[in-house]
Amino acid sequence: MQIKAFYPKCVSWERGVVTVFKDFIATLTGEVKKLFMNTIVIAIGVGILSTVFLLSDIPESVPDLVPYAKSAAMAGWLTAVVLITLAVTWAKCGELGAMLRYALSCIPRVAARLGFPNLIRIRGAGSGGNRLSRSLGPGLPSLSLLPAAPAEVAQDQRTGAGYARRVLAAFRRCGLAQPKDGRKEGMVQVVSYQAGPAATRVTVSLPDGFRLSQLKNASEDLCAALGAPTLQVVGGRRAGTANLIIGNHKRLPVYLRPSLEHSDFEKHLERAVLPFLVGVDDVGEPIFSDLVRVRHLLAGGATGSGKSWWLNQLLVTLLLTKSPSELRLVLIDPKKVEMAAYHNTVHTLSVATEVDDAVEILKNLVVEMDRRYKVFKDAGCRNIQQYHKRHDVSTMPYVVTVIDELADLMILAKKEVEPIIQRLAQLARAAGIHLVVASQRPSVDVVTGVIKANLPSRVVFRLLSQADYSTILNENPNTSLEGGGDGLALIEGQHGLIRFQGAGVGGDEDDLERVISKLNDFWRNNSKFAPAKVSLLENAAAVHADTVSVLAQTPLAQPSGSPQARPDSKGERTKMPTVSEEPGKQVFVLSPAASSGQAANVATIPMDGEGRSDLVNVPDLPEPDFDEFEEDDTLLQLKQLIAQTGETRADKLRDMLGVRKARLHELMQRLVAEGWLEPPPPNNPRASYRLVVSMEESRRQ
Ligand SMILES: Nc1ncnc2c1ncn2[C@@H]1O[C@H](COP(=O)(O)OP(=O)(O)OP(=O)(O)O)[C@@H](O)[C@H]1O
Ligand SMILES: [Mg+2]
Repeated sequence: MQIKAFYPKCVSWERGVVTVFKDFIATLTGEVKKLFMNTIVIAIGVGILSTVFLLSDIPESVPDLVPYAKSAAMAGWLTAVVLITLAVTWAKCGELGAMLRYALSCIPRVAARLGFPNLIRIRGAGSGGNRLSRSLGPGLPSLSLLPAAPAEVAQDQRTGAGYARRVLAAFRRCGLAQPKDGRKEGMVQVVSYQAGPAATRVTVSLPDGFRLSQLKNASEDLCAALGAPTLQVVGGRRAGTANLIIGNHKRLPVYLRPSLEHSDFEKHLERAVLPFLVGVDDVGEPIFSDLVRVRHLLAGGATGSGKSWWLNQLLVTLLLTKSPSELRLVLIDPKKVEMAAYHNTVHTLSVATEVDDAVEILKNLVVEMDRRYKVFKDAGCRNIQQYHKRHDVSTMPYVVTVIDELADLMILAKKEVEPIIQRLAQLARAAGIHLVVASQRPSVDVVTGVIKANLPSRVVFRLLSQADYSTILNENPNTSLEGGGDGLALIEGQHGLIRFQGAGVGGDEDDLERVISKLNDFWRNNSKFAPAKVSLLENAAAVHADTVSVLAQTPLAQPSGSPQARPDSKGERTKMPTVSEEPGKQVFVLSPAASSGQAANVATIPMDGEGRSDLVNVPDLPEPDFDEFEEDDTLLQLKQLIAQTGETRADKLRDMLGVRKARLHELMQRLVAEGWLEPPPPNNPRASYRLVVSMEESRRQ
C-alpha cells in the first residue's frame, strides 16, 4: 500500500515496482542502460548463486569457500537493492530524488567534457521539467535553453493521481465493482493513469463478463461520483481494458520543452525534415508533424486565441533542430510586433512588415521556386530531397515563409496575393519552400476557396461562430474551443480532426525573447553552420551563369512608400521592379532581414517576350480575371465584412476593405438602396450607418 504514497503513479502494488523501474530505465540510453541492467542482472545472479550455495550441503565439503560465498551473497544482494532503490528514488519526486537527480545531472556535462556527449537521454514526462536535458543532436543547441515547466504544472500529476485513486470508490458507489463472495478477482482494476493539461486518462481492466457498453452507460454516474466536470469512456489499447477520460477542472499551461524531451520526439526527428509540435492531446501526449509532409499550413483563430503562440513554438522548434545552413525564414509580419523577436535572427532571410514589401517578397519566392526547379532539371532531380542527396543542404536550404496575418494582405492586395499563394502552395513544396499562414478572420473573402483548396492542412483556434469553424475546416466540429491555445487540427497524414492544446515556449513573451536570443547567440557563434546564402540566387549563378547572374549587393528591398511600391495615382499598385541593364531580363530583389543591415541580392532572370521568366517548365496557372467582377466582388466583400464583424463605421470598413473614401461611400449607398443599411441621420452625418437586416440574415445573404 505504501508504494502509492511513495510513488503516486503506481496505483497497484503488483505493477508498482515494475512501473517505477520501467520509468527509470526509459530515462537511460545506450551504454548506460546496458551497464545498469547488466549490473542488476549480474548482482541478482551472484546473490542467488551464492545463497543457493550457502543453503546447500556443498559448504560442508569446501568450508574454505564459505567466507567468499557469504561476501558474494552480500555484495550481490546489496548491489541489487541499492540499484533498485536508486531507480525508485529517481522516479519519485522527493528530496532525496531531487538531490540524486542534481548529482546525476552533472554527469552529461562531465561526460561532454570528457568527450561523450548525449550519454543520457531524457524521456519527457507529461508534467515535464525537473529532468536532465540534452541537445536534439550533434551540433544542435541544448533543450535547456527552453524554460522548464513551472511547479504548478506538476499539479496535473496530483490531479491525475487523485482521480486514479478515487475511480475504484466511484465504481463501487455506482454498483459497478462489488467484490464477488468477498473476493477481489472479477473486479475492475486500475491499470495505469496518464495526467494531461485538460484531462486524465485512467485505464481500467475489465473483468470477464463486464462489457464496455455497461461502462459507457454508467459514464454520467461515474462522472458525478468522481465530481469531475466531464467523463468519457473509450476502449483501451489492450484487450479487456477501457480508458476513462476524466476532464480536469482547470486547463493547465503546456510548455514546449517537455514535449521536445519526450522520447517520441527523438524518434520523430529520425524521420522528419522540418519537425514541429502540433500540440499535446488531452492527456498530455505530444502530437508531432513534419512541415515537409504537410506541405503548407493554414492557422485560423480569433484575436487572442493563440495563433502567435502556436507559430512561436513552431518557429522555435525549427530553430532548435535546423541550422541556418539548412533553413532560412521569410517572415511577413503585418502587425509589425508579432514576430519582432525573429527579425534579426541568423535564420531570418527576409522580413516584411508592410503589405507592399510582403507582395514583393512573395513574388520573389515564386522566382526562387522557379529557379530551383530549373536547378533540379539540370541536376536530374525531382525535388529538394533528391537534390540534397547529391549536394550539400546549404546549397539549397529549406525556406519557411510565415505570414502572421493573411487578412491584411488579402484585403489590400488580394489580386496579387491570392494567385501567388496559390502558385506557391501548389508547387513550392518540391522546391523546399513552405508556407505557414495565419489569419484572424476566416471569412470567405480572406480564406477564399482558392486558398483553402491549396492549404489543406489547417490548425484552428477559438473562433467567434460555428460558421467560422465551418469556413476554415469545411465541416462543423460541433464543439467550441476555449481560447488560450485550445485548438483543432486537420493535418495531412493524420486521421480526422485532432483536438490539442498548443504549447507555449515559456510562460510569457519575455521567456520567448530570451529563448530566441539565446538560440541566435548559439547559431551566431557556431561557425560550422554559417547561414546558407539565400542569396540562393548566388549559388545558382555559379552553376547557371547563363540564366541567372547575381548583379550586385544593393540596398534592401524597397520599403513601402518608396516610389516603386507606392500605389500610383489611380490607386493601383505598381508592378515588381522591372528595371534591368540588360534588355530582356528582369531584376528581382531577394531582400535579407530588413533590419539586419545585410545587403539584398539582385538577380537577373531571362524573360520571354511576354515578360515571363523562362527558367522552368512549370505549368502556368490561369490568372483569374478579377476586373470583370471587381465591382460586384467589392460589394460582396463589404457585405461579408459587415456580416462577419457587424461593423458599420465607414472609416473602419474603409481600412478593412482597403478602398478609398469615395468608393466606400458609393458602396455604402448601394447597401442602403438594397435595404441592408440605414444611413446616418442628416443632422449627424458622422454617425455610423445602422444595420437593418439581422446578422443572421446578412450572413445568409
Ligand atoms: N498555448 C497557450 N498556452 C497558454 N496561454 C496561451 C497559449 N496560447 C495563447 N495563450 C494566451 O493567449 C494570449 C494571446 O495569444 P496570441 O498572441 O497567440 O493570440 P493571437 O491569436 O495571435 O491573437 P492576435 O490575432 O490578436 O494576434 C497570450 O498572450 C497568452 O496569454
Ligand atoms: Mg497574433
